[in-house]
Amino acid sequence: MDKKDVALLTGEGYWFVGPVMVSDGPHGLRKQEKDADFLGGLPSKPAVCYPTASALACSFDKELLYEVGEALGDECISEGISVLLGPGVNHKRSPRCGRNFEYFSEDPVLTGELAAAMVRGIQSRGVGACVKHFAANSREWGRMVADSVVDERALFEIYLRQFETVVKKARPAAMMTAYNKLGGVYCSENEWLMNGVAREKWGFDGVFLSDWGAVSDPVKSAVAGLDVEMPGPDRASTERLRRALEAGGEHGEKIKKRVENVKRFIKRAQKPEFGKLFDLGAHLELARRASAESAVLLKNSGSLPLGKDKKILLVGELAKSPRYQGSGSSRIDPVSLDSIYEELKKTYPDMLYAPGYSLDGKKDDKILRDEAVALSANADRVVVVAGLPDEYESEGYDRVDLSMPASHDALIEALADAGADVTVVLQCGAPVLTPWIERVSALLLTYLSGCRGGAACADLLTGRANPSGRLAETWPMRTEDDPSYDNFNVSMKRVEHPEGIFTGYRYYDAAGREVRFPFGYGLSYTRFSISDLKLEDGVPAVAKCRVTNTGNVPGSETVGVWVGLEKSRIMRPVRELRDFKKVSLAPGESAELEFSLPREAFAYYDVKTHGWQVEKGEYTVFLGMPGTGLEICGALELEGIEPEPEGYDVEERVRRREIESGGKVVITPDSPVEDIRTRFLGRLFLRIADGKMKKMSPIDADRTRTLVYGSPLRALTMAHPRFNRDTVDGIVTLLNGKRLRGLHRILKSLRKHK
Ligand code: BGC
Repeated sequence: MDKKDVALLTGEGYWFVGPVMVSDGPHGLRKQEKDADFLGGLPSKPAVCYPTASALACSFDKELLYEVGEALGDECISEGISVLLGPGVNHKRSPRCGRNFEYFSEDPVLTGELAAAMVRGIQSRGVGACVKHFAANSREWGRMVADSVVDERALFEIYLRQFETVVKKARPAAMMTAYNKLGGVYCSENEWLMNGVAREKWGFDGVFLSDWGAVSDPVKSAVAGLDVEMPGPDRASTERLRRALEAGGEHGEKIKKRVENVKRFIKRAQKPEFGKLFDLGAHLELARRASAESAVLLKNSGSLPLGKDKKILLVGELAKSPRYQGSGSSRIDPVSLDSIYEELKKTYPDMLYAPGYSLDGKKDDKILRDEAVALSANADRVVVVAGLPDEYESEGYDRVDLSMPASHDALIEALADAGADVTVVLQCGAPVLTPWIERVSALLLTYLSGCRGGAACADLLTGRANPSGRLAETWPMRTEDDPSYDNFNVSMKRVEHPEGIFTGYRYYDAAGREVRFPFGYGLSYTRFSISDLKLEDGVPAVAKCRVTNTGNVPGSETVGVWVGLEKSRIMRPVRELRDFKKVSLAPGESAELEFSLPREAFAYYDVKTHGWQVEKGEYTVFLGMPGTGLEICGALELEGIEPEPEGYDVEERVRRREIESGGKVVITPDSPVEDIRTRFLGRLFLRIADGKMKKMSPIDADRTRTLVYGSPLRALTMAHPRFNRDTVDGIVTLLNGKRLRGLHRILKSLRKHK
């Protein structure tokens, strides 16, 4: 091996691994040709914007995800991209995580199956997918310094399971290690996670790329199994790796192995078909269909579809300036963007419109609201488009609570007060509170539905398309109901997970807590029935049922298969989703659905044997979806182990608050910027930096501060091409009181790497 090859272990700029180009992802291609950034602030080549993962997950449709994957693969080929950085499969632990729009679900089976389908689609075109962020990365605050403390059972059942499914069912070319630590060790340095679990237990044979800036110690990372530190090149990293390689021994051998793995990856990544054009019209049509398939009808007292001869008033700035994707590294520049306003106007040329609230706060909300209320007197139906404006949710920070802007809630209430027949359309990346729910006639949730979301929404409102989405996450009644509420953002550096496996519906069911809308919920313009349950013993066991469209219009129904063990000796959710299918049926048509249930479908992770076990007992198998009244169930007797009885109290677990203890703050390259407050020079620096942040809008300043204060000092290497690890070490030395030595190191690092 040529010693120069060690340079392959750090990126070649922002987007290259050696000669291989990678790009974000995941709901469209963010190919940056000039200046690069990892937070989506700078322009990228215009691309098709598909619905975000939070929306796509509601389709419960593996084939659709496969098609979106194929389309993304074609777009990568056309742009010469070898690996798409996505999908993101992290568990939605709390609806407050600012990046939830990029993730699929609170259920690891749903996430894993949909992500595996998407990866298969992408890779069917010869392009690689990079599944991210491995692992237990479920919040944004302090994401580069936080330590996720998760018990072993919850880790395997909830936080790793979706990665396992994707690795086993789709063989992704790459995985991205998360920023955070897991059990005290950075994921990018975590040998147990990368080698022990992914490579040895699951057979992962791709490369591990670090998240951008996630490497604390390049040598430790390579030795632990990380292939490439991104971005790069950090010359100080390369030098340290070269020295370790030359020193030989066990570490040298392990580093060699990584170089060989990267070389293999590079060889596979070059494609002769790069540059081949794709059918843009067909992809935009797919984006529209995907968006329609993903919307969830949460309430309908009969006002939808709108009806041809009705006088419509459309309200809300989001109807004209839609929120259709999230902020951060996944943000792309769309090739085109339609709006609900333009699309609905095609069906209702005389439609009235009022902005209703101001998105940028430059106009008076009360005046806009009154104007909308006055116009509502002339309309049969009022459609209000509301939701979360851009700055409410983003990669980099979390939400404080689940409220929408007060102006949106007040608008809906005012229109209801005036006696209007109100339909609400919600554009948001994650659940919001809906205090006005009893006062509106209909609620259509589109999540963030991509650049064709406007057309898709008009199709759904007018009945040209029939809603068929189901919630991929629970919508709670109150922010505080969230089982992770007491431990979610308590400490910047430590994220306890006392709720363990009781996350999402697993908690709400077990605690018997009322929710606004349950996981799996969603309505249709037609009706369905589920009948003829048949359960067959065996390995695998088989569950069958018949689904019939008993209504008057074509529609699609989703059936989930769930497993529970009422008389379990151990801690266990009431029931858990194990598989799902979606079927399209004409009025009067019916279809038989069949599910195969391997033994793993009944297993739990046993911490005593560090493996999966099936408990002996009578299992209940449910078919259908929660909240719809369409559920049937039967029993299956299974042989298995008889574990020792376990006592537990769900609420007690969930509400246990773990607080880190204080102690002397030591500054290291991994310290969050927040910690430098403890030093005189640090305070001086922060005062200057704060001044700069204040010059931005007040909202941005606060959120930028949260992001900056929660980032480690080593992230400075991404701030300027001349900064490297030696520069950061110099700054740390300076802050720790050795001013001359620190200054010397800083200057030397900058000079040396000019
Ligand atoms: C994100 C990754 C993304 C990378 C490159 C990071 O901030 O966490 O998901 O792929 O930037 O843009």
